[in-house]
Amino acid sequence: MNRDILILAVETSCDETSVSVIKNGNTILSNIVLSQIESHKRFGGVVPEVASRHHVEGITTTIDEALSSANATMEDIDAVAVTQGPGLIGALLIGINAAKALAFAYNKPIIPVHHIAGHIYANHLEEPLTFPLIALIVSGGHTELVYMKSHLNFEVIGETRDDAVGEAYDKVARTIDLPYPGGPAIDALALEGKDTYHFPRVWLEKDSYDFSFSGLKSAVINKLHNQRQKNEDINKEDVATSFQDSVVDVLSTKAINACKSYHVEHLIVAGGVASNKGLRERLNHLCKENNIKLSIPNSKLCTDNAAMIGAAGYYYYKAGVTSSLDLNGKNNIDIEDVTVE
Ligand code: KG4
Ligand code: ZN
Repeated sequence: MNRDILILAVETSCDETSVSVIKNGNTILSNIVLSQIESHKRFGGVVPEVASRHHVEGITTTIDEALSSANATMEDIDAVAVTQGPGLIGALLIGINAAKALAFAYNKPIIPVHHIAGHIYANHLEEPLTFPLIALIVSGGHTELVYMKSHLNFEVIGETRDDAVGEAYDKVARTIDLPYPGGPAIDALALEGKDTYHFPRVWLEKDSYDFSFSGLKSAVINKLHNQRQKNEDINKEDVATSFQDSVVDVLSTKAINACKSYHVEHLIVAGGVASNKGLRERLNHLCKENNIKLSIPNSKLCTDNAAMIGAAGYYYYKAGVTSSLDLNGKNNIDIEDVTVE
């Protein structure tokens, strides 16, 4: 009989200190997430030095908590997976050094995991990935369409040429005085407004799967400056709905077009912005219309967490991809570079 494989996973790429124990790549035994949002709120965004300090303070207790809530000890663990990048280098290194210390002390293999591969595998914790699939990745740092023909096989078919979609949400939110992170706040306001501003939709060249959100962001900011100069009333709900409609139109149309031209029947969505209600609703509708299976993880698994790193880590472990103790963080690492054929 096959023995269960337990992976202890560590994620510290941005502002969440998270440790998880995952069984066989798809069962969460524990997933502890220590969020730093309250500390970064007053600065209007993540401050890298503050993030690193919080990771240092929280990592040891988070590891202990993840093991005890999983009813496991380090002896039960088969391998330690850790986010190698992309992310804030100082923050990544806290998780990597903790993972290395555990791997060294308990003589376990260490598995480097790409943060976006982790976001993709968050879906696998709810429902098995079926191939081929298209993954729409929408986070604070990334906006990509990825084609996968099998496990750990990543082909980027489109990506943002400037701002990531979550970044655009956060910047637009700031201009209408909403707190960080702006995405959830805009999403909530957007339910109450109308698309009265008709901001542009940026499609780029015909058949391109690339994205661009900086023009939309500038259009919103310019429009608001103009209105303020003329002392006109700004309807925040309508700004939120108009901005979100533009974003959702482009993301969903390109994702569906990619599924059609790559003959794919499974679309998965990943990353913090995958929580967005407007995006979920539109994709639900379009996928039904086009007979495409849609998977979007629950909100807790959309934002940064170590469970998703453990799920991807399990497949790297099975593929024999491990690292030596000289593993280093990489703040910028291409997902195609971590493809396994
Ligand atoms: O994936 P994530 O937790 O961190 C990164 O790896 O970047 O994504 C964070 C981003 C933030 O920009 C946040 O504003 C956005 O996800 N976000 C949302 C929503 N919830 C989080 N954006 C739009 N609508 C939401 N409901
Ligand atoms: Zn993320």
